[in-house]
Amino acid sequence: MKTILLSSNDIKTAAELLLNGEIVAVPTETVYGLAANALNATAVAKIFTAKGRPQDNPLIVHIAGRHQLYNLVENVSDTAVKLMDAFWPGAITMVFPASPIVPSVVTAGLATVAVRLPSHPVMLDIIKAAGVPFAAPSANCSGLPSPTRAEHVLDDLDGKIAAVVDGGACDIGVESTVLDVSGETPRILRIGGVGQSDIERVLNMKIALDTNGGDKPSSPGQKYRHYAPKTPLTVLEDGDPGIHIDRDNETVVYLCPAERANMFKKHIVYGSLSEPESLARGLYSALREADKSGAERIIAVCPKGECFAAVRDRLYRAGMDN
Ligand code: TXA
Ligand code: MG
Repeated sequence: MKTILLSSNDIKTAAELLLNGEIVAVPTETVYGLAANALNATAVAKIFTAKGRPQDNPLIVHIAGRHQLYNLVENVSDTAVKLMDAFWPGAITMVFPASPIVPSVVTAGLATVAVRLPSHPVMLDIIKAAGVPFAAPSANCSGLPSPTRAEHVLDDLDGKIAAVVDGGACDIGVESTVLDVSGETPRILRIGGVGQSDIERVLNMKIALDTNGGDKPSSPGQKYRHYAPKTPLTVLEDGDPGIHIDRDNETVVYLCPAERANMFKKHIVYGSLSEPESLARGLYSALREADKSGAERIIAVCPKGECFAAVRDRLYRAGMDN
């Protein structure tokens, strides 16, 4: 298959491909997504094949307006409404009891469905033009860092998908926060673009972080290795005494905030501590660049503090088996 590179003006072409049952990579404010018509089970199945995604890992359904939510879910709690008012459109995904209209290939057979209303204008225009919601995981090969530019999508999926819509670099750079609002008490299943304290402020209560997986993971995605470059990665806590080890070793590439750049001979800066969002925005691109650098090992300097929670989560998962 030849993958077509579309521009953000090609909304109609992208929508037509999607309505014809093709899969198309699309920009969102978090990371690029690999979209299919969520109500077409055959189209959704193509996503799993193209990404090499485990069949038991469900997909997020993306909508362009709240009216589309009510067909997809059985029940919307008051808590969910408060969160939608505060954070939609944006980087928060909520897990609801699924309505029978949602194909089981989307939910991986679970009784719940994850839904997000993204803020990216190109993504919203394509959903509106197609008139159907899109199931879309991140548009990378399963296990690799998520794509934050169209070229990252092509590096992983060229020849395996119908098209990619180039909407430039993603603003946020890490995936949405996934929050289960299907039960009595909300739980965070994945920390991402929206912080835990922001959610707690809106709900005026403490929210449990349920992101670790273990024997009985609350979200299937917690079972799998994610975000990992091909080169082995080790995490180094910023300020750790070991931070000076190997700093001149040319076979190692350091991923670090700008403020630490002068400490390491071979390094890639992925953002600045003075602007926490910049580290999230630059992380995946830097991981991909590190893979291409020829280094035998990546050492990633991990910033400390709650405002870096999503970056910390991604780095520790990326380094999990090393
Ligand atoms: O920012 C994002 O969320 C991006 C963009 C494209 O929207 N999407 C994304 O999708 O990161 P994906 O498939 O890479 O991650 C979705 C996560 C997975 O960990 C999956 O297990 C979890 O959400 N998930 C999906 N449906 C679920 C459900 N019904 N219950 C629990 N977890 C669910
Ligand atoms: Mg993903």
